[in-house]
Amino acid sequence: MAGCITTKNLSATFGDIRAIEGISIEITANKVTALIGPSGCGKSTFLRCINRMHELVPGARTSGEIIWDGRDIYAPEVDATEVRRGIGMVFQRPNPFPLMSIADNVSAGLRLAGMRKNKAGIDEAVERSLKLAALWDEVKNKLDKPGGSLSGGQQQRLCIARALAVEPDIILMDEPCSALDPASTQKIEDTMDQLKDNYTIVIVTHNMQQAARVSDFTGFLLTRETGEPGRLIEYGPTSKIFTMPDHKETENYITGRFG
Ligand SMILES: Nc1ncnc2c1ncn2[C@@H]1O[C@H](COP(=O)(O)OP(=O)(O)OP(=O)(O)O)[C@@H](O)[C@H]1O
Ligand SMILES: [Mg+2]
Repeated sequence: MAGCITTKNLSATFGDIRAIEGISIEITANKVTALIGPSGCGKSTFLRCINRMHELVPGARTSGEIIWDGRDIYAPEVDATEVRRGIGMVFQRPNPFPLMSIADNVSAGLRLAGMRKNKAGIDEAVERSLKLAALWDEVKNKLDKPGGSLSGGQQQRLCIARALAVEPDIILMDEPCSALDPASTQKIEDTMDQLKDNYTIVIVTHNMQQAARVSDFTGFLLTRETGEPGRLIEYGPTSKIFTMPDHKETENYITGRFG
């Protein structure tokens, strides 16, 4: 299935630094999966491996397998640009192009992904994506205004719209609400809930309530000793992870005893 992604024994390094090791996980299509764990345990690295952004860092390597839609995304014949189109990413800090118009911000990804469309096709993609990101009503009368003129929460939804414009299967969100106020956070969470009918979402969050609210499955990553790589300690339905985790370390983390 297009939105399903499986990693087998995935490890990633930055030069001599082992960031994550031996991560095997099956991410379910059309569900929200939350990744939690203390700072530095490799959550962002894991996301960046999944859409082949990790390799953009000089000296960074991965090993193991990542299977998306039946294919190993690191196989020699697979084009990294195509992987990044199908597996989009939204970052912690909203990063629209500040001087570019709202509409052009949304359609920017189409050009970068080499998806050629005529004016009507671009307009249609902009409207569809802004509606999906629950931003359309707020910006439909000012599509030519700069992306930087929006509030932080609106900018983050603009970035979600930009990620959606290229019609990905999977959206990776790395702490998408950590720079936002509660009302904007609520809007992003509502958006995620709507999106999961058609998309697979993986979200990294430090907010346990958010993980419990929005996700169907939760994975807990941990670096057991300083200098050790992060590992997946436990993974399962969110209701189970938050009520009867199998591992003491998971329980300690979610109850706020460390991290
Ligand atoms: N560009 C880099 N160069 C070298 N080491 C890095 C780089 N990025 C991350 N690391 C290291 O990889 C490990 C995992 O980092 P990562 O950013 O994935 O953690 P994280 O779980 O996302 O943390 P946080 O919750 O603080 O965002 C850490 O030891 C970190 O220092
Ligand atoms: Mg991170």
